[in-house]
Amino acid sequence: MQTECSVAFIPDNLSVHVPVGTPLLRAATLAGLELTSACGGKGTCGRCVLRIVKGTADPGDEASLPAKYRGDGYVLACKARVQGDITVEVPGDSRLIEHQVLVDSSLLAEELVGLGDAYPFAPICRSVDLSLDEPTLVANASDLTRLQAELRRRAGLEDLRTNLAALRQLGGTLRACGWKVSAHVAEHHPGQAELIAVSPGHGERKYGLAVDIGTTTVVVDLVDLATGLTVDKRGTYNKQARYGDDVIARIIHAAEDATGLKDLTEAARETINELIDRLLGKHGLRQDDLLAATCAGNTTMTHLFLGVDPRHIRVEPYIPTATCFPVVRAGELGLRLHPGAPVVPLPAVASYVGGDVVAGVLATGLARSDSLLLFIDIGTNGEIVLGNKEFMVACSCSAGPCFEGGGISNGMRAMKGAIQRLHIDPATYAVEYDTIAGARPIGLCGSGLVDALAELRRAGIIDRAGKFVGERKSPSLRRTDEDWEFVVAPGSATECGRDLCITESDVKNLIRAKAAVYAGISTLLRMVGMDLEAVERIYIAGGFGSYLNVKDAVGIGLLPDVDPARYRFIGNSSVKGAKLCLLSKEAKAEAEEIARRMTYLELSLGNTFMDEFVQALFLPHTNLKLFPSAAVQEAIQ
Ligand code: FES
Repeated sequence: MQTECSVAFIPDNLSVHVPVGTPLLRAATLAGLELTSACGGKGTCGRCVLRIVKGTADPGDEASLPAKYRGDGYVLACKARVQGDITVEVPGDSRLIEHQVLVDSSLLAEELVGLGDAYPFAPICRSVDLSLDEPTLVANASDLTRLQAELRRRAGLEDLRTNLAALRQLGGTLRACGWKVSAHVAEHHPGQAELIAVSPGHGERKYGLAVDIGTTTVVVDLVDLATGLTVDKRGTYNKQARYGDDVIARIIHAAEDATGLKDLTEAARETINELIDRLLGKHGLRQDDLLAATCAGNTTMTHLFLGVDPRHIRVEPYIPTATCFPVVRAGELGLRLHPGAPVVPLPAVASYVGGDVVAGVLATGLARSDSLLLFIDIGTNGEIVLGNKEFMVACSCSAGPCFEGGGISNGMRAMKGAIQRLHIDPATYAVEYDTIAGARPIGLCGSGLVDALAELRRAGIIDRAGKFVGERKSPSLRRTDEDWEFVVAPGSATECGRDLCITESDVKNLIRAKAAVYAGISTLLRMVGMDLEAVERIYIAGGFGSYLNVKDAVGIGLLPDVDPARYRFIGNSSVKGAKLCLLSKEAKAEAEEIARRMTYLELSLGNTFMDEFVQALFLPHTNLKLFPSAAVQEAIQ
């Protein structure tokens, strides 16, 4: 009886051998294919569809297989188990493909607090070129004492410690290069310095990494530690996505699966290492050239990255194991930097306000500002910080994964083929759209969904409560057995060959998500007794921060209706804050101070959040006086 079988994936021409009974999702992972698996392989999201073209598999529970895929060999990869040699086709929209990484080009970098006067340039790791006197029978101090004395004299480093690995290489390196060396010293704790390594000769370039560990995307900046310049950057999806799309699914996997925590920790590290390898390869660098890293992530991501159990974050009273994290050696974490390089996780504020928000606040200069600023990071949770140099208050509202494409029938992350902008002609209902990288459309990402909601309302296809206005006559508007839906792109134009639609339940989900963000903003303002007029500037960060159409975001009531000039889109502020901490010990100390100073407001307790939320469940809001620019449009409807 056959115990092993071969699974071939087309059109990739990848194949693996696996034991009979292996789920196809596992076989795909072993073959190096990443499939969309929003529910983490539980068989509930219906996203991991494959088509069997040769051979057979036990399809298992197919309850979540979307109706359009029933028949014709389609199965759910997480449920179907191989029974013999088999060939399967991977449809385009089942693939987890590389993200569009937010880059700085569209960001107002000069408006963020730069290193200039704000923070002195003093990286947490620096290289000091030294020429030591050779020892003699008379001048017979040890190699280390000699090095320490010279570092004290040349660089003012008083309390230099060392680690065993650096010590082991010291004697040989000094003698091999005629006592001319570069000493690489980490200074991540005030008043303490540690020798990480010595390298022969002078002037060798060394680098650091600023890392944003997002739930969806991981971004790594390669930074020259001598100049502070970003040499290059890379980003990709977080490989943890194979265990679920959002932090809750991942916490559940970590808590309930025997190898869950290990799986997630390894997936995060694997993702970062893959990006490091690409950067090293492109720039001809070695692992030992990377001497430090700072990492910003939400509190769950930081726990998982460090291998710390995050389970208590999810259950009342929502307590993380830690909000301040130890500096860890790269070697201990299995990251491909110099094994002794310090890896510094940025501190968090609370379970749902993490180091990524602290990094964003640092990058905007909010904590040093005389005037009142608002920082909004829109992802799976909407994290909001209001404050200035006097006070900072933060909250996290559960917006759900809509703006990252989750929970929406044709939603997707911001990657190639995602519709990121669209317009509906109010007379003909013809749709014009832009996709990321100009590819044939696969689905709609967050900015496309915001546009879609605004345009559906503007064209009168939905009413203020988000209900489809059935009497509108258009071939694009149709009633299915389950729902009304509007065709954004016909199957003839799409990558997957089927119509891309927005349904009435999608609209409802989006309205709930935007209402949560707006209610969070209103609640925070109410709590400190201020109104929007007092806010000088509003910073928008997050996955769609660089692409969001502010008029449409205001039009649907996601963002407050204020002068558009007060908005600043800052994209990935998490990696910017991490970079500041890498390049300035003072900025790193300030990040720690921000995490300590910030007051966290729990929205489920004793405040007006639920009232604000219910009032915001209309387009743009129950109270049109709050949205004067949208009210003009509503009057025309
Ligand atoms: Fe298979 Fe969600 S249904 S991963």
